[in-house]
Amino acid sequence: MSPKKLHIKTFGCQMNAYDSERMAEALESQGYALTHDAAEADLVILNTCHIREKAVEKVYSELGRVRLAKEDRKSRGLDTLIAVAGCVAQAEGSEIMARAPAVDIVVGPQSYHRLAHLVEEAAATGKGLVATEFPAEEKFAHLPDRPKGKSRASAFVTVQEGCDKFCTFCVVPYTRGAEFSRAPAEIIAEVERLATMGVREITLLGQNVNAYHGPHPDESSWPLARLLRSLAEIPAIERLRYTTSHPLDMDEELIALFGNEPKLMPYLHLPFQAGSDRILAAMNRKHTAAQYEALIGKVRQARPDIALSTDIIVGFPGETDADFEETLALAARVRFAQAFSFKYSPRPGTPAASLEGQVPEAAKRERLYALQSLLDGDRHAFDRATVGRSLEVLFEGRGRKPGQIAGRSPYLQAVHVEGPDELIGQIADVDILAASPNSLTGVIKSGFEWRGPVQAAV
Ligand code: 5AD
Ligand code: SF4
Repeated sequence: MSPKKLHIKTFGCQMNAYDSERMAEALESQGYALTHDAAEADLVILNTCHIREKAVEKVYSELGRVRLAKEDRKSRGLDTLIAVAGCVAQAEGSEIMARAPAVDIVVGPQSYHRLAHLVEEAAATGKGLVATEFPAEEKFAHLPDRPKGKSRASAFVTVQEGCDKFCTFCVVPYTRGAEFSRAPAEIIAEVERLATMGVREITLLGQNVNAYHGPHPDESSWPLARLLRSLAEIPAIERLRYTTSHPLDMDEELIALFGNEPKLMPYLHLPFQAGSDRILAAMNRKHTAAQYEALIGKVRQARPDIALSTDIIVGFPGETDADFEETLALAARVRFAQAFSFKYSPRPGTPAASLEGQVPEAAKRERLYALQSLLDGDRHAFDRATVGRSLEVLFEGRGRKPGQIAGRSPYLQAVHVEGPDELIGQIADVDILAASPNSLTGVIKSGFEWRGPVQAAV
């Protein structure tokens, strides 16, 4: 019998991408094979995101398409299960089935370990199932080990989930629940396994990753810096990164690590959201613009060349032109190497959604445009400043043009060079020759000798 086919469509953040991979692995061990074609899938999973924009509406319109595919398959005598996972599943729960009866399973991010079981049950009973409880420990304890044989240079590992910060614009504390950290031993074992599979770079993920406090049997708990130092001891792991952080949780040890742990890459994503203290207070960020800037100063002292990245929201309720000018001014002073900026979007159930003074769409659009022009300029300036330098590039795959390979610099810039496929999965020195809007191009440094595949001694 040919294996059953599984199609997963992922929306949103890297945490969702990681979760999709783990769901695929769990179902692969149950005999499912992945397909890119939703129409031939016996099981379709939409892994949804709730953070911005009309995410919920997008899911329903996608469900409309999937329902048609399900009906078409039915007319050919084939059954299809539809599952909705992710943060929209968590937020909407059984409401999804009321609005989209073609859906068989609604599963929140904390219940993925039950997915294979839910699929079996839904297939056997034909009943709609909703799993949206919140025990995060269980989820991590039950997700399968990653299968051997899949090789990649860079991998994500979720170490922390959920958030207790309750920024007034944000759904995460409601959809992902309270903050939870995985045990260090479990993470170290996962990273060691990845290292034996050829992974050289690990990005630790969490909605509030620097609030990490992993339960440890000997000590009270491990902060993120302690976990990073431990992972740096694994020889085959050459690069470490983490994302995404809150300014309040950037402790001294974590900052110092940028200066004294060579495996920690010089890149920090640290959202500031707004430059006006009044708006920051209304957002419940619990810091001022000056405190953010002072923190950036400390980080730069530890690692002067660090690439800084951020998230910014324009048009939060009550934001005036003068408040927005402060956002522009703060961005201009810091000069980010990378930035993500968004129009404020009211999320149902969050405190900011019912605030007075919602900003008209046109003003949001204008502010976003002005901000992005500034941010684009700074990003290009950062990229141009690396032209003429020699950077270590971890090659992750082929480039767009034949003969090209592509990878990332320590600053997370995409780099393209002419080079042999054998370099994929390896780090090489590259002389950077040019910066185009989305990537750098360069040549492998003369005299660079490929040492052959690194033995994955861990
Ligand atoms: N509207 C606009 N942007 C938002 N973000 C989170 N919630 C909202 C919202 N309601 C942005 C923040 C956060 C990033 C992941 O998404 O900038 O840091
Ligand atoms: Fe949302 Fe991040 Fe604020 Fe937590 S810290 S509530 S995830 S924006």
